[in-house]
Amino acid sequence: MSFFSHHAAPTNRQGRNLLIPCKVSFFVEGFKVEKLMTPLLTIVVLFALVFVVAFTGYAVAWLLLINAGNRLTLRQLALKPGMNVVDVGCGSGRFTIPMAQQVGSTGEVLGIDIQAGKLQRAEQRVQAAGIKNVRFELAGAGEGKLTHERFDRALLFAVLGETSNCEAALAEIFQTLKPGGILSVTEGFLDPHYQNRERVRRLAQAVGFIEESCSGNRLLFTMNLLKPPILR
Ligand SMILES: C[S@@+](CC[C@H](N)C(=O)[O-])C[C@H]1O[C@@H](n2cnc3c(N)ncnc32)[C@H](O)[C@@H]1O
Repeated sequence: MSFFSHHAAPTNRQGRNLLIPCKVSFFVEGFKVEKLMTPLLTIVVLFALVFVVAFTGYAVAWLLLINAGNRLTLRQLALKPGMNVVDVGCGSGRFTIPMAQQVGSTGEVLGIDIQAGKLQRAEQRVQAAGIKNVRFELAGAGEGKLTHERFDRALLFAVLGETSNCEAALAEIFQTLKPGGILSVTEGFLDPHYQNRERVRRLAQAVGFIEESCSGNRLLFTMNLLKPPILR
């Protein structure tokens, strides 16, 4: 066990403290060792503690936010058996698997990403789960590789801000959706590449999407964007 405790600090001739009155005790091979910490070490230790607390808080907040985002996104997507879905920037397949389960054996999910390592990890997860209706492709949104009018749903979860060209990515997603198809965009403010609602709205409208709904708040939101159906 090691604890910090108060201790009378040595003083100089004028009676001023030479050390911050902090003593650290620990055991080495059964013997108690006590050391006074120098001011510099005390500051370093305090900074380290503040950093650990801040980092832990950030990680917990991020996990809670991600968890809320996952549930919100899947609910808003309203997937049905037989649907075709493209998971743009699928990463290691966090959404690919639950979406494949929801669309069933008559539907299909295509996961695309620009990182081969993440796709490999996603592929392993899909195989381990015994899922057959998933394909992965090494491709970036905006590179023109997605087939026209192929998908009922598209997902962009914490991806838009990472794409090198948001406008081109959204334009390609628009054309790969069937008329009446929906793009779901989720953004969380703890993400360093966070895109706010106004920006997503503006970019999406510029390529032809109509905002169908926007749930959540400024910390985390999911926006459903509709590709207008063809009216006969
Ligand atoms: C923060 S991760 C999110 C991964 C996944 N959507 C999730 O929620 O777990 C962002 C992912 O977007 C991918 N990405 C960045 N630009 C992309 C692009 N133009 N096309 C496809 N994927 C892209 C990155 O490689 C990364 O895997």
